[in-house]
Amino acid sequence: VESTAWDGEQAARYDIEHTRIDTPVTVRYLSDLAAGCDVLEFGAGTGRLAIPLAASCRSVVGIDTSEHMLAAAAKREVPPNVTFRQGDAASWTSAQRFGLVLCAFNLLLLFTTQEAQLAVICNAANHLAPGGNLVIENIHPPLRAFEEGERMTALHLPYVDVAISTQTLDWKSFQVDQSTLYITAGACRTRQVTQRMLFPAEQDLMARIAGLRLVKRMGNWRGTSWRLDPHGPSKSNVISTYQKVAGAADN
Ligand SMILES: C[S@@+](CC[C@H](N)C(=O)[O-])C[C@H]1O[C@@H](n2cnc3c(N)ncnc32)[C@H](O)[C@@H]1O
Repeated sequence: VESTAWDGEQAARYDIEHTRIDTPVTVRYLSDLAAGCDVLEFGAGTGRLAIPLAASCRSVVGIDTSEHMLAAAAKREVPPNVTFRQGDAASWTSAQRFGLVLCAFNLLLLFTTQEAQLAVICNAANHLAPGGNLVIENIHPPLRAFEEGERMTALHLPYVDVAISTQTLDWKSFQVDQSTLYITAGACRTRQVTQRMLFPAEQDLMARIAGLRLVKRMGNWRGTSWRLDPHGPSKSNVISTYQKVAGAADN
């Protein structure tokens, strides 16, 4: 999957745009699972999670398709036990097996068909050691918005004067096409991202096919249980932890 949504401009602004996310809380949850393990992150981006996680685990390998996001990661202080590699989450392969694989912050939704999402989960499972964990963080499907079919929102971002986003939602493919117009000092930029939403039940079945079983589902990184939210995604995410069943065959 090649996407222009992760170009140099997006890489340059990514960490500023996401300062509002409570990264330390996320890292705290993941650190417990990562303790003493080798960790693999698909869609590692600028290393927002991969870099702080390194303190609590043996090593982190961060995979990303975007050279721009990886270049932004390389500019940070990268600990010696963190390696970034360019690759696609659906097809990247290594002989190494990991204790924890991460698909954080909607990485899986950037794969816009059921087949492609299943391929990523199978690839994650194939890289897990027996008993290892896969953590997937997705936005809650915007159920009301699917009923409407489209919506427009103004975003409050720290570095632009105005940002307006339009979304087209197709319930048959469960895809959301989002176009965002950013205006700064009279200059305009647009960005387009397509995501395929996932219901937890569908994702659980994909995980089961991949030889994984659900061990925990949360609505946020503080550990609050997940609940269906018709007004989502504003209030909750879907954070699922799956474990590789011992003896599961590769896919
Ligand atoms: C929303 S960012 C998440 C970055 C990071 N995980 C975080 O939590 O800050 C999604 C990342 O996935 C990457 N990406 C998109 N498609 C990908 C693919 N097919 N394989 C691997 N990475 C991909 C993008 O380049 C981007 O860096």
